[in-house]
Amino acid sequence: MPAIDAIVVRVSKKITPTKSEADSEKAFAAKTSAALSKSLPKQCRVFFVGSAARDTGLRGSKDIDLFVSFPRSFSKDEIVEKTFKAARRALKAKWEKHYAEHPYLQAQHGAFKVEVIPCFETSPHEELKSAVDRSPLHMDYLQARLTDAQRRDVRVLKQFLKNAGLYGAELRIQGFSGLLCEYLILNYRSFKNVVDAAAQWAPPVLVDMEGHYAGRRHQFAEPLVVIDAIDKNRNAAAVVSETNLYKFVALCRAFKSKPSISFFFGKRKKRSAGEIARALRNRGTAIVVLKIASPKLVEDILYPQLHKTERALARHLSLQDFRVLGTASFIDNGNAFFVVECESAERPRLKRLQGPPMSSAKAVADFVRAHKGAHRGPYIEGGRVFAERARAVTFLETELKALLRNPESWGAASHFAKPLKRARLVAPLSLKTEAMQEFAAYLFRRESWW
Ligand code: CTP
Ligand code: MG
Repeated sequence: MPAIDAIVVRVSKKITPTKSEADSEKAFAAKTSAALSKSLPKQCRVFFVGSAARDTGLRGSKDIDLFVSFPRSFSKDEIVEKTFKAARRALKAKWEKHYAEHPYLQAQHGAFKVEVIPCFETSPHEELKSAVDRSPLHMDYLQARLTDAQRRDVRVLKQFLKNAGLYGAELRIQGFSGLLCEYLILNYRSFKNVVDAAAQWAPPVLVDMEGHYAGRRHQFAEPLVVIDAIDKNRNAAAVVSETNLYKFVALCRAFKSKPSISFFFGKRKKRSAGEIARALRNRGTAIVVLKIASPKLVEDILYPQLHKTERALARHLSLQDFRVLGTASFIDNGNAFFVVECESAERPRLKRLQGPPMSSAKAVADFVRAHKGAHRGPYIEGGRVFAERARAVTFLETELKALLRNPESWGAASHFAKPLKRARLVAPLSLKTEAMQEFAAYLFRRESWW
């Protein structure tokens, strides 16, 4: 069994940017920073931050993050306007406006993806004017502390997480951000130590490197709390979902018990239509796929809305006595898909309704009146009154079609309500390649390390 240290070295060779790649990133960042400075007010400073600046990024990422800091006397509108003007003058590129807490710019320039983000000057733990103000402080903090071996281990940890689908703080993933990887490595000192520690995590987990809360209670409710070293009021792991935290714990346990390079470069198995058809037959369940035109939203709104709609659909069907085994949702090629699987396509025809306790005469009388035409009852059992009702709709597809006429009534997310009215039920085997593989990921659901 190869030792973890040997694996780390092998992985690192494959994922560390080549020297020429790293040099060209830095040269490009320096040139663009200088050009930006020339077109900005004198009090501004341009910071090259993020993983490319700290040598903690993966090969081929070519992600250049430039922050422009303004004195706090400027307004948000001013810093955005001045930064945009300077960026357009400094670098001829197809700048695209993106929105976070306030607008910033992004452009593809040759191989580089450049982001220019205006922010306000801040010092550690000072109240922020904007959430992005922390980034230059992260840069100072991490640059001063990460050793070369730790930078390598950050890259290795990122690859480890990426291969398991756990890397990234975007809401589509709800995983570990680059910054979080850096903090974990600093706190535990090496990749191997992170794995050792996480294999034994019993959430809630607290990592408080700077001891901001030493002996004191903190205010964070998330299952993983990593206190941001430069802002004690922020949990740098806030977006890590409970599921993804436990996946990481399980992944670390599996890697420890059988270390192998496949934890870093494993591939997701492609499933053929034949395999999918066979699995569907073997399960003998009722699986339907709904297809709609995806609403056009930025990712961090689209995915929460998609997941909210999926949960609402499952909840509503359960309340209607369909036995929901599982659901999934995904986006492909401008469409959104919902997968719903029930134990059977038909729900029981009869529903037994529990009425009020016999002690409340009035409530019992009301119940009896309301259920005069019951299929059976009303009758008394123990201290309560009951009635049984027959249902018209008993098939999943019929129920779904009814639901789609009125998506607001069961809690579909706002931007999904309208396209859901024109949803179509599609056969899983008619899905296009990518969508079919997403469907297969549901059908063959299993953690890759088990
Ligand atoms: N940042 C943050 N929290 C996030 C995302 C970003 O604090 N959830 C800040 C960090 O200071 C980070 C910087 O924004 O260093 C740049 O973000 P990003 O490019 O997303 O991450 P990197 O650290 O550069 O990691 P990588 O590009 O390798 O994924
Ligand atoms: Mg980056």
